[in-house]
Amino acid sequence: MAPGYLSRLNTAQLKAVRHSPTIPLQILAGPGTGKTTVLTSRIAYLIDRYRLHPSSICVVTFTNKAADEMRARLTQLIGPHMTSQLNLGTFHALSHQLVRLHGPKIGLDTDFSLWDENDCRKLAKELVRGHSQSIRQTLFHKEATWLCERVMKVGCKGCLWDKNVHEDSCDFSAKRLEQLAQIAALISQEYQDVLSRNNILTFDGLIERAVELQRTIPELQRQFEHILTDEYQDTSHTQYEFLRTRLGPGQGLTVVGDSDQCIYEWAGADIRNFDRMRQDFPGTNQIVLGKNYRSTASILRSARAVISQGAWSSLCAVAEHHAKTATMIRRGAEPERTVHGQYRWLFPYAISTRLRGG
Ligand SMILES: Nc1ncnc2c1ncn2[C@@H]1O[C@H](COP(=O)(O)OP(=O)(O)O)[C@@H](O)[C@H]1O
Ligand SMILES: [Mg+2]
Repeated sequence: MAPGYLSRLNTAQLKAVRHSPTIPLQILAGPGTGKTTVLTSRIAYLIDRYRLHPSSICVVTFTNKAADEMRARLTQLIGPHMTSQLNLGTFHALSHQLVRLHGPKIGLDTDFSLWDENDCRKLAKELVRGHSQSIRQTLFHKEATWLCERVMKVGCKGCLWDKNVHEDSCDFSAKRLEQLAQIAALISQEYQDVLSRNNILTFDGLIERAVELQRTIPELQRQFEHILTDEYQDTSHTQYEFLRTRLGPGQGLTVVGDSDQCIYEWAGADIRNFDRMRQDFPGTNQIVLGKNYRSTASILRSARAVISQGAWSSLCAVAEHHAKTATMIRRGAEPERTVHGQYRWLFPYAISTRLRGG
């Protein structure tokens, strides 16, 4: 254990780190407030003071990059030996491991291929193209894109089909939208058939299998004494179910996240998971980290760059008049759609700060 790892923490951080492991905890704050620092210190504290064995602790991240960063930071803090004993990985990696190990116990075929989003999109595109030829109907590019999105999302329980974003904001006529929805239903069926005929699992499907296993094999719910997850705002409903169904009574859950900074909404991230947790885990405490250690300088630098593009003042004027615009801008700032790609982190953050009078 790195000596003095608690001494650099501020009061709120220390409170979160020392918080009783048996009371579910949400640690909330913006970027650069030391959320990951608190999570890694809390892991050290659980081992050091609450005497949890590293192998009884599970640390779940959203991306491989985050898992690598977490591993590196923990190695510094608790050393390589203890770090290697933790169950640390992405939702997908942990689900994969679980399905391979325990799948046969409930008759799951473990000889599946795993498809990522690109593979899925390729199939959806192919099916959409085939349909447009067979019904001799020209699909415009944006209609075909809409259909692909719909086919992929409908097949994925953890994904959100947000009517506001996907239907109300597209500029198809009501009649055309209805036609497209019918075509989408046909293609979705074919899409699902191709996946199941070839024993293909999507990333989301993999987590669903893991959830099914956790629900049916009680030992799995006894394996961990504590689960911790970073960037909780980016978890989908299925990923939340993964956390929930893994925990038996009396086991601990700590999540860290920023409810204002959901960047994976387009991939199914569900901000309602904060409320769900409070409902499903009565007595959940919240600790807010206030002090920002990183972003002031870098955000101000980026903000100046935006201002120099001349877009900033008009964006703020709109946002201040109409709080909903902030959400729209947040949505518009999605990686694939934004025209200001390099500022996609800055817009939601700066606008929400501005709206709060910051
Ligand atoms: N109490 C603290 N005192 C000084 N620096 C801190 C403190 N807490 C966090 N930091 C530093 O702030 C930076 C951001 O921390 P990090 O844990 O990555 O934040 P977040 O996960 O909220 O983005 C890191 O460089 C970290 O070392
Ligand atoms: Mg972090």
